[in-house]
Amino acid sequence: MRFQGRVVIVTGAARGIGAVTAEAFAHEGARVAALDLDGPGVDAVVKRLRETGVDILGFGADAAAPAEIRGVVDAVLERWQRVDVLVNNAGGFAAIRATEDITDEEWASILRSNLTTAFVCSRAVLPAMKRQRAGRIVNVASVVARGGAVRVTSHYAAAKAGVVGFTRHLALEVGPHGITVNAVAPGTTATERVKALRTPDESRELAQTIPVRRLGEPMEIAEAILFLASDAASFVNGATLDVNGGQVMA
Ligand SMILES: NC(=O)c1ccc[n+]([C@@H]2O[C@H](COP(=O)([O-])OP(=O)(O)OC[C@H]3O[C@@H](n4cnc5c(N)ncnc54)[C@H](O)[C@@H]3O)[C@@H](O)[C@H]2O)c1
Repeated sequence: MRFQGRVVIVTGAARGIGAVTAEAFAHEGARVAALDLDGPGVDAVVKRLRETGVDILGFGADAAAPAEIRGVVDAVLERWQRVDVLVNNAGGFAAIRATEDITDEEWASILRSNLTTAFVCSRAVLPAMKRQRAGRIVNVASVVARGGAVRVTSHYAAAKAGVVGFTRHLALEVGPHGITVNAVAPGTTATERVKALRTPDESRELAQTIPVRRLGEPMEIAEAILFLASDAASFVNGATLDVNGGQVMA
């Protein structure tokens, strides 16, 4: 039980990598705050885990909305008096399109959900982590921020490159306070959202470009997130861990 009694906040926890990560922390003894824009989705995750005895809070909240996130962190502190781990997982994109077809609104929305979320949630937990003189922040970047081999869409690539830069700088800034900040850069991972982006044939073709000849599974990303949040990673700070089957080697 690597996270017995630790308090972990996971954003984007209603489905995909976030839901699997929240469950993996819970199985390792953590007390979990799961938050997502999708309130009913997060309620379903909370209900399922609570039935197995997990100490869990759920929040239908926007991870890029400062007032909502202040409310979430206040509620977590009121319930458990501490925050040990923040996983900034919220994000993603819905369609692959050419740059000249991206509207101003979509550009702003992708930067907001993939990059601003990490800033807003990190800023909200830092005072508590500094008081504790301990904390772990794990950001979810992407293989697209690590090399040019995976063609998706430019706003998403820009946002995830921003996540890598934010990770490095925050690590430098808060390391002296006992807080580490790292990122995981997943390769193409078979969540429902990502499966819907391509036909099964296109997904099979994509898998052939990956040295291990398959897409990743959400649990394989969760394992890397748990490692970076664990005591075993105590001297890892400012790193981006590639978990992509060798798709891109940075
Ligand atoms: N699946 C992949 O292939 C892959 C690859 C690289 C990186 N990633 C990253 O991993 C993370 C999870 O991806 P996934 O495939 O599980 O996606 P997903 O769509 O299944 O889950 C993402 C969740 O984030 C939530 N979310 C989005 N914006 C939010 C906001 N502002 N506030 C709160 N919640 C918000 C969504 O409602 C959704 O439930 C994302 O950051 C994604 O960019 C995924």
